[in-house]
Amino acid sequence: MSLIKTINFPPLGDDRGSLVALESFKTVPFEIKRVYYIFGTKEGVARGFHAHKSIKQVMVCVTGSCNILLDNGLKREEVLLDSPTKGLLIEDLIWREMHSFSPDCVLIILANEYYKENDYIRDYQEFLSAIKN
Ligand code: TYD
Repeated sequence: MSLIKTINFPPLGDDRGSLVALESFKTVPFEIKRVYYIFGTKEGVARGFHAHKSIKQVMVCVTGSCNILLDNGLKREEVLLDSPTKGLLIEDLIWREMHSFSPDCVLIILANEYYKENDYIRDYQEFLSAIKN
């Protein structure tokens, strides 16, 4: 089974242009408690390099593009986020790395929890041990 779970947000377009609505338990399958965004990423920079013990996230690249690498300890898969109507749902214990940010990339991340550092696994060996348990 693929690690990549995408959500296609219905574009509410009309002749003025497009609009996407992100709503808890509707277009986004959890209660949204936090929204943050990554922008102005310098050329060649990769970020992430962590897994979350329990926090669920949906990532949307609203402008530009970037690549997300997902790793469940057994396999690694890559997905290109390049559309404001495409969401990537990450809800399991998955290591993620973000790279190849276009200069104009704005990556919005919705989360079902507030920021808490103790939900992060930032060490890859620790991640592999957590997967086994
Ligand atoms: P970090 O987790 O290192 O970013 P990434 O995983 O995308 O590389 O976060 C960078 C800094 O921002 C770090 O000091 C923690 C802080 N931060 C918050 O305070 N709140 C948040 O919601 C997030 C995601 C990060």
